[in-house]
Amino acid sequence: MDALTLTSLHSPSCFSHPLPSPKSPDPKSYIPRFRFHPLSIPSKSHLSRQNLNKPKVSTSDSPSIAIPVVDPFTSGETSGEKFDWYSHWYPLAPVCDLDKRAPRAMRVLGLDLVVWWDRVEGQWRVFDDRCPHRLAPLSEGRIDRWGRLQCVYHGWCFDGSGSCKLIPQAPEDGPQASHCLSLQVHTSGKACAASYPCCVQNKIVWFWPRTEPLYKNILMKCKPPSIPELDDPSYASSMGIRDMSYGYEVLIENLLDPAHEFGYGKFVAPCLVHMFPDSGSNIGSASSSGSKADQRKFHIIVYCIPVSSGKSRLIWSFPRNFSVWIDQIVPRWMFHVGQNLILDSDMHLLHVEERIIAEIGPSNWEKTCFVPTKSDVMVTAFRRWFKKYSNCQVDWAKKSVGYLPPTPPREQLLDRYWSHVVQCSSCSLALKVLRVLEASLPILSLILIGVVAASKPSVMSAAIRTAVVSMAVLLFAASRWLSHFIYKTFYFHDYNHAFI
Ligand code: FES
Repeated sequence: MDALTLTSLHSPSCFSHPLPSPKSPDPKSYIPRFRFHPLSIPSKSHLSRQNLNKPKVSTSDSPSIAIPVVDPFTSGETSGEKFDWYSHWYPLAPVCDLDKRAPRAMRVLGLDLVVWWDRVEGQWRVFDDRCPHRLAPLSEGRIDRWGRLQCVYHGWCFDGSGSCKLIPQAPEDGPQASHCLSLQVHTSGKACAASYPCCVQNKIVWFWPRTEPLYKNILMKCKPPSIPELDDPSYASSMGIRDMSYGYEVLIENLLDPAHEFGYGKFVAPCLVHMFPDSGSNIGSASSSGSKADQRKFHIIVYCIPVSSGKSRLIWSFPRNFSVWIDQIVPRWMFHVGQNLILDSDMHLLHVEERIIAEIGPSNWEKTCFVPTKSDVMVTAFRRWFKKYSNCQVDWAKKSVGYLPPTPPREQLLDRYWSHVVQCSSCSLALKVLRVLEASLPILSLILIGVVAASKPSVMSAAIRTAVVSMAVLLFAASRWLSHFIYKTFYFHDYNHAFI
């Protein structure tokens, strides 16, 4: 990924100093100052999926807890300490991209989730995406008139806490369940949907991947990582979201690669990569006069989300405190056009690289790859961290998501519609509007031709006829161009490095 291009989409002026390169004469000038934060490193047994149902309270992320910092240059030998993937907050989606009217299916850590808006309590909810009745996905359901999540298979309804409030086939004054004589079926614990703790932080919905009651108030003890600039009104901080056709570790590795990224930053496990162009995160004039240019600040914030093996998701934002007006007049989807192109540029090669690593065995990465330069340091450090604290794999919730999926046709690999457009409110709206325009232009063209054909020469001069026919031709040509633009922008745009 070329961060120079990616970020310059927002403001080319912010790159007044050269981007460090591996060939720089002064290697120190581009060595990133990353720190690895393997938050919450519990005992080995803590990692086990079999223990997930045992109540545990994590104190990870707590400001009062000392965060161990791993030396990136330590050996990658397996340690007795493991990273607990289930004791951290995970971002799901920017609030602006969620529709309060409809539940949304999302997968994280191999967990199938449904996100929905509980208008009764005025907050987002995250449930297991399966109905306790016959396991139909709740994300296929609807929000009923009382603001409950309704499974559309047999109509069971759940409130924000997951309690079942309606079973159409068992009215409250009807017969009791034969196997549960002392309870109405509605009130049985087995009728409840599994609910995860969730919250909104930095305009993003987050969830905690445990449903046990012990974690209900986990937010009081531990909060998602906070980036003040994302909530600062003096910053422009529009967001984007996209599913990638390669895995979490390859995504992190790509972002930590200083050969084509910024020089400074930090990785906060498991999801946050935060980069800035210099140690003070200031950009602009190099003078120390305290001028306005000195106060310009720009960040790259990317949340890397493990979805399943070979699948990841990223949520990005580039908060900056200058040229804020641009984001107020340029719709978000226009930024996404270029940003998606940049994400596409690496998609195929990273997808293939991931399969090669799988063939050689992830634990052999360092033996097989030749990584001699200082620009490889952070990637190597991440690989060592991943090996040492997680045995080179994410602790997926289900074994079935732990295998790399087969390589799809290129159109699916670089698909934009399902990976981005359906998840992005701005691109979805733009696609609808442009589709209407595309359909309207040929009709307008035909109408103009019809007017010319129906007009007598005495009513419409030859010059006007020519002008109207020209306009009709232009409108038709515009519709064809628009059709091509829509396809390349919202569905599939092939990327061939040899011809770029
Ligand atoms: S499966 Fe959901 S109501 Fe039957």
